[in-house]
This record gives sequence, C-alpha cells and structure tokens, in this order.
Amino acid sequence: MHRVTLGVSGGIAAYKACSLLRLLSESGCDVTVVPTESALHFVGSATWSALSGKPVATDVWSDAQGVAHVRIGRESDLVVVAPATADLLARAAHGLANDLLTNVLLTARCPVLMAPAMHSEMWEHPATQANVATLRSRGVIVIDPAVGRLTGADSGAGRLPEPEQLADVVLATLAVGGRRDLVGRQVVISAGGTREPLDPVRYLGNRSSGRQGWALANAAAARGADVTVVAANVDLLDPLGVGVLRVETAEQMRAAIHTASADADVVVMAAAVADFRPDSVAADKIKKSKEPDPLNLALNPDILAELVAHRGAATRPLLVGFAAETGDENGTVLDHGRTKFAAKGCDVLVVNDVSGDKAFGTLDNAAVILDPSGVTREVPRGPKLDLANAVWDVVAEQ
Ligand code: C5P
Repeated sequence: MHRVTLGVSGGIAAYKACSLLRLLSESGCDVTVVPTESALHFVGSATWSALSGKPVATDVWSDAQGVAHVRIGRESDLVVVAPATADLLARAAHGLANDLLTNVLLTARCPVLMAPAMHSEMWEHPATQANVATLRSRGVIVIDPAVGRLTGADSGAGRLPEPEQLADVVLATLAVGGRRDLVGRQVVISAGGTREPLDPVRYLGNRSSGRQGWALANAAAARGADVTVVAANVDLLDPLGVGVLRVETAEQMRAAIHTASADADVVVMAAAVADFRPDSVAADKIKKSKEPDPLNLALNPDILAELVAHRGAATRPLLVGFAAETGDENGTVLDHGRTKFAAKGCDVLVVNDVSGDKAFGTLDNAAVILDPSGVTREVPRGPKLDLANAVWDVVAEQ
C-alpha cells in the first residue's frame, strides 16, 4: 500500500482536497493529511481526520514524542500539496520550517507534487514564478494551475485542477516509481473510439472509454515524455500536462495523428478506430416510418497501416498497435494477435482479450505484448496504469 501525505494549505480550493483524499484512499493509498493552520479556516480538522481515519495536526508540538515532522516525511512514498498557496510555495522555496507541513517537506525524500491555486495576479507575480522555478529546479513537480473560474466572479489562470486529474497524476507518479526513461521523447497516443455519423443524431460507434489511452498518457508524462493525445469521444477530463486534441471520426483522427506524429519518437494507437463508416450521411434525421435500408458501409483508412507505410525504411517513429481480439474456432486470442502483428508491420502489438466485457470501459485490463524480438510478455489483470507502464518498458528498451 502506498503511503501518501496530502498537504493542504489555506486557499478556498482546500474543499477540493477532500475529494482528492477520497479518490486516493479508494485507489488503495494510505493517506495522512497535513493541513496548514490557515487551511483549517476553510475545512476543519474533524473533516480531515474523519476522511483519513487519522489524527490531524498543523504544528510540530502536538505529537512531539512521536517526532511527527520527521516520521511523516520519512515514511511517505509521495507528498502532494493541493492546494499550494503563494505563501506555501514561498515558504517551501526558502526552506522555512515553521509548521508541520513545511517540516515534512524538508524531511521527505520521496517525489513531491505541488498543485498551486490562487488568483491570477498572485500566480503571475514574479515572486511566485521565481519560487516555482526554484522548486522545479530541485525536482519538485509543480503542476500548472488550470484556467477557469476563480473564487469570485472572475476567471483566469490559478484554478486548482479537478481532484480526478490530480489523483491520476499522483497514482501515475507512484506507479512509475522513479522511471524517467522517456525524458525528451515526443509521444503521440490515440485514445477512445471513433463515431461515424449516420444522420444528424445517430452514429456507428464502439464502447471504448479511452481509459487505457489516458493511463498511457499519464504514465508517459510521469516518465518525462512530451505527450499529445488524440482523443475520440472520451468522456474524461484532460490528463494534466498533456496536449489533448479532441476528434470524433476516423477521418478526423487520421488527420490529427498524421500532423501530431510528424516529429514523434513513438506513436501508440490505443484507440478503437471504426473499420467502417456509413457511405453517406443523411442531411435529415432518418424517419422511423421509412423502410430501413441495409447499412451502406465504406471502408475507413487504417491509420496504423498508413503510419507503417509512411515511415518506410526509417526507424522512427516507433509504432505500437493494440489488437482487440476474441478467440474462435480458427484460433486463440494470441493466435489471432500473432497473425495481426505480422500483417500490420508495427513494432509492438498489445493483444487484448475483449471477450465478455474484459477490456472496454473497465478499470482493469490484461494483455500480451508482442515485441520485435519475438518475445511475448504477459501482463496479468490489473489497473490500466500497470499495462501502460509495461508498454512503456518495452518501448524504452527499443
Ligand atoms: O486491424 P485492427 O483494427 O484490429 O487493428 C487494431 C490496431 O489498428 C489498433 O492499434 C488501432 O488503433 C489501429 N487501427 C487504425 N485504423 C483503423 C483501424 C484500426 O489505426 N481504421
């Protein structure tokens, strides 16, 4: 079980840290909350201790015999401060140790994440920017604040990202465990499932949720890559620190992938791209009273096959495909996967057994990864982040 310390400083966004705490606990983390004195003006200590199941202190005197400021820092696998106010960033940048949280920040030797939240003027102030630069130069992962509604009627840069987005970064950082083998690499990932319109209200689609693509993006970003996701109909908030291009159809995905992959080192096609589309899109809603036509389908371009052809004899970008397979009388899932690997010409193929709701829309996944040397790696059923890291391990070896 990962031990996470959640530092909360005194901004109105402290209320969002309650949801972050909940999400981390539900994902199996053991969370200790260390609020600052000002954070308690927004959310009281009863809330933090009830949600975490632990006593909560803001100073170093409450548990002096247990030397909490050293113990908490040493025992943490990760410290995340959300929200991090301008004052907390300044104190951390200058190494002050005037409350429990700043002491913990000095005793922790694990990854430290900070999610600043404040009004735009405070965020943009040179003093804050200099403190952020200092913290980053020391290896602290400072997440850029979101742009949006702030405390009052105004909006701008300075909003705390949503708890789900922060939880994904925390979980990815923990799962990656210090692997920074994709620093300087440009990675393009397709995610979700394309929708091919039939008329103004109907489409031909599939059940891909985009969660595997999101896990690949979060893991690659945590390993240091520069990540772009081309997302088809993914109903999830953007992964933090990742460029996201939203598309709907296979044709749109094709254009976005070709543009985004021009300078890429790796392209991972995790999206379920519709193989067919309705030949023509009706301008008006097709009436129920109409005698239904048999579906008139046209073949969609195979984007991965195009990337293989376009690359020719070059070795970059490295191309990774996903194959959703079910076993049948002609062979097992792996037999079909091997045949597809040979036919597709990509460098790595991730073979997914999608029979019986095993992959689409689920939180877990299992797969077999086929690589160019002929090695077959089995990734047992587990969180989609684990499969994502197994894919990046194979990519990093290439
Ligand atoms: O041949 P099949 O559709 O099973 O291949 C799956 C792989 O090919 C996935 O990586 C998918 O993203 C990619 N694909 C594609 N364009 C299509 C269909 C699939 O790039 N039209």
